[in-house]
Amino acid sequence: MFAFNFNKTAMPIFYGKVALITFLKSFKTQNMTIGYVPTMGALHQGHLSLMQQSLQENHVTVVSIFVNPTQFNNPDDLSKYPRTLEQDTEKINALNTDIIIYAPSVEDIYEGNVTSQTFNFEGLENQMEGKFRPGHFNGVGTIVKRLFEIITPTHAYFGEKDFQQLQIVKKMTQKSLLPVTIIGCPIFRESNGLAMSSRNERLSLNQREEASMIYKTLLRTKDLFKTQTANEVNQWVETVFVKNDTFELEYFAIAEEETLLTCEEKMEDKNYRAFIAVFVNNIRLIDTISLK
Ligand code: PAF
Repeated sequence: MFAFNFNKTAMPIFYGKVALITFLKSFKTQNMTIGYVPTMGALHQGHLSLMQQSLQENHVTVVSIFVNPTQFNNPDDLSKYPRTLEQDTEKINALNTDIIIYAPSVEDIYEGNVTSQTFNFEGLENQMEGKFRPGHFNGVGTIVKRLFEIITPTHAYFGEKDFQQLQIVKKMTQKSLLPVTIIGCPIFRESNGLAMSSRNERLSLNQREEASMIYKTLLRTKDLFKTQTANEVNQWVETVFVKNDTFELEYFAIAEEETLLTCEEKMEDKNYRAFIAVFVNNIRLIDTISLK
């Protein structure tokens, strides 16, 4: 695949959808593929790896940077979410100056009506993140659908750290008949195993180091699940967190990958995944691992 070369030192940032839609029209009419990476900014290596994959697989790559208010159930989390457009733009341009950046305002997206559409994700939304963050997935569905309608990508890239989000986006796309292929990409980890996240920036150096216990716990659950039931593994995880003063466990669950229903009894033909959410000083971290 030969990515389109704009021969510029850097692309201008699009702040409004009208100019972006006009700009993208010529690629659509030439049947070029448009790869798309939606982000909320505070970019890290994980985001950049999604962009890299999109660049390799498409003629044109678009990245959006938008902190979406409707997916935050906690106003404090929304107000503290890092907003670093200048640094983000530098990181994108250092990777590739042909990437098209869309950094809309809340008004450009929501046009005076900052509310979520209500979706039926056929049960995918009822557990884990959906259970502990009411309204979160309606907010995600709303923004991803709107961004897909504006950008009309042929391919969209999502990290597997938010595995439940990935399944929800696939369901929304399929039910809304949107012609875009959703691609899930592997989790990028810091050298100590901590899953990369924009929220890691808010951790102290010590917390960031200690947070390696989250991935270590997941690795151990993978081992335990070979011989133990989901319930026994759950209990083991709970004891680990009772003994830990730094991290508070919000949930741990072993669920089937397609339906995201929690595993009551192991079935040979199903693929399972462990999901975890923990708090440290009001900072919420999530992670997941395939148990295959
Ligand atoms: O994963 C995220 O960063 C967000 O949920 C997304 C997909 C950009 C929608 O706001």
